[in-house]
This record gives sequence, C-alpha cells and structure tokens, in this order.
Amino acid sequence: MKFYKFPQAAGIDTLELHETPTPQPGRGQILVKMRAASLNYRDLNVAAGRAARGTLPPNLVPLSDGAGEVVALGADVTRVAVGDRVAGMFMQNWLGGDMEAYHVDSSRGGAIDGVLAEYVVFDQDGVVPIPAHLSFEEGATLPCAGVTAWNALYAGRSLRAGETVLILGTGGVSIFALQFAHAAGARVIATSSSDDKLARVKALGASDGVNYRQHPEWHEQVLALTHGRGVDHVVEVGGAGTLARSVEAARIGGQVHLIGVLTGGEINPTPILRRNTVLRGIYVGSRQMFQAMNAAIALHEIRPVIDRVFDFDRARDAYHHLKGQTHVGKVVIRIP
Ligand SMILES: NC(=O)c1ccc[n+]([C@@H]2O[C@H](COP(=O)([O-])OP(=O)(O)OC[C@H]3O[C@@H](n4cnc5c(N)ncnc54)[C@H](OP(=O)(O)O)[C@@H]3O)[C@@H](O)[C@H]2O)c1
Repeated sequence: MKFYKFPQAAGIDTLELHETPTPQPGRGQILVKMRAASLNYRDLNVAAGRAARGTLPPNLVPLSDGAGEVVALGADVTRVAVGDRVAGMFMQNWLGGDMEAYHVDSSRGGAIDGVLAEYVVFDQDGVVPIPAHLSFEEGATLPCAGVTAWNALYAGRSLRAGETVLILGTGGVSIFALQFAHAAGARVIATSSSDDKLARVKALGASDGVNYRQHPEWHEQVLALTHGRGVDHVVEVGGAGTLARSVEAARIGGQVHLIGVLTGGEINPTPILRRNTVLRGIYVGSRQMFQAMNAAIALHEIRPVIDRVFDFDRARDAYHHLKGQTHVGKVVIRIP
C-alpha cells in the first residue's frame, strides 16, 4: 500500500510518498481502507517539525483525520463489522469522561502515526461510524475540527437556543461551530479577514460579519451588534493575539472557549476577572462527544463545508492550500 510520511518533518515539501506491505489487524483491531483524509492547522505545525508535546517521532505518518471502510477484523472484534463506514478518533483512547495525559499520547498524526495512507489499522475502540448522509470526504472532516467545535459549544455549559456565538475567522473549527450553533437556534456573528468569506458565512447562517482587517477593534463592532451586552460564547481560535478582544466581546459571565494558537501576544488577566469571564481550555474531545455530535449532524443533516478536495498524489498541494488561508471550512485529500 501507499502511504505518506515525514522522515524528519522540516517543511511541507519534506513529505514523502512510500510503499509498504498492507498491515494486518491483530487481536481487537480492525483494518480500514482509507477513502479520505482532511487537514487541520495543526498539521502545518507538524509539517514544520513542531510537536504539541516533546518531539515528533521520526517517519511520522501525518494527519489525524480520516474516514474509510472497514475491510478486515482481527480476533475478538465485536464493536465493528466489515463494511462499516467509520472515521478514526483524534485521541484514540479518550472514550469519555475527563481528559487524561495518556489520552494525549494517543493523538493520531502527532504522538502516533496518522491516517494519510491507503490502509490504517485501528483499535476497534478508536473509530466511530460516520453519519449515513455523509460522503467519505465529508466524514473525514469530523474528528478534529468537528469534535473541537462540538466540545466548545456542548461539553461545558451548553449552548442554548437564542444565545449568541462569536466565531473568529472562517477555518475548519469556526465553520463547524457556525453550523452547530445555527442548527441549535443560536445567533452567529463571524469575523474574517475577507468580505467574500463573510458573504459565504452569511449564506451558511451567520447573522452578521465583521472584517477584522477593516475593523482592528472588531470587539467594538461585536458589542454594537449585541446592543452593548456581548456574546454568550466565543469560539476562540486566534490565541493570545485575539484573546483580549474576545473577552471584551463576550458578555459578563460569558464563555470564551480557548482553542487556537493562530496569533501571539500577552494577556492581561484583569478584564477576565472584572467581566467574570469563563475561560475554558479545549483539546479536541472524546468518543462520547464525537458520537453526540454525529447524532446531531445526522438529525439536522448537516454537511461539513469542504473548500477543496485534492487527489492523493497531490497531498503536498493540499498542505500549501491550507497554509495560504484562502479556504473556508475544510481541505480534504481523496484516497484512491
Ligand atoms: N485545541 C484544539 O483541540 C484545537 C483543535 C483544532 C484546531 N485548533 C486550533 O485552532 C486554530 C484554527 O484551526 P483550524 O484547523 O480551524 O484552522 P484553519 O482551517 O487553518 O483556519 C484558519 C483561519 O483562521 C482565520 N484567522 C487567521 N488569523 C486570524 C486572526 N488573527 N483572527 C481571526 N481569525 C484568524 C483565517 O480565516 P479568515 O481569513 O476568515 O480570517 C484562517 O483561514 C489553530 O490555531 C489550531 O491549532 C485547536
């Protein structure tokens, strides 16, 4: 089978295509014929050789997110059947409850090998069925970006109909948050670098858009749009450089879900306590969250927003496209 690896990750163009015998599932494991994989911002960090913790293993197979069809079972597999359409989980062993350190050590495409391969062996517990109305390309977008957005809105103090959610930018996590919030009857305000992208998010259900290039003090626009009150939830993908404005854009007692690290800067804690802001760190999510999300996606027939699909032999181009940040939603690689 063909697969990609970074012999030593030192930039996108150090990604190499290789061949190896197709692996076989052992006891409790399944073999999945991968049909699609999707990229996250994190995969650009991995390509650059940056690990979330410690150092990246050499010869790493990249990408956490993929979907495919179960084609073989090892001994004692009862949870999954041949023919099931499944997606792999980001953290392979975080099934439910609170996250523990050892869950992080099972992260695909970082701590352990990822899914940019024709065949991948999973533990039977490391996959979830994808909703029936989704293609493999769509299903491949769910494990990181989808579950992260779901965790933000539903695994803490849950989003309620009529509340307002602020999303920053129009990348993978933010667009999933928009779709989940819109389906729940919440109002969505979006920021973006681009008016064209803001038109796209309005077509997807956002009530208002703020161009943060034209309005560097974008939190003031958000406050004006909420009659000075502020939003109930901020899906904070910007990091230290946007956090202060996110806190100002949230209502007193509002929740700011800390997800991203797109920008750097320094944080002053005083406004956080003065505004009683609830800051919540998010690291993807558990299988329990993934399954709850899939139930909602199936019920509302939500379709993940795919910006562009690349062929398997153009995987490097997919990375360059993501890095260019012209996308809205997800960038996907089709696996033959
Ligand atoms: N904690 C977790 O579990 C977790 C999970 C997934 C992702 N993340 C993090 O969340 C962030 C987003 O990930 P992703 O995969 O969704 O990224 P992505 O698809 O690459 O989207 C990035 C988008 O963010 C927007 N952006 C860039 N700089 C911005 C700024 N200063 N203010 C507002 N928006 C900005 C841009 O959209 P516009 O052009 O529309 O502005 C850009 O296209 C990354 O830092 C990633 O590492 C964390």
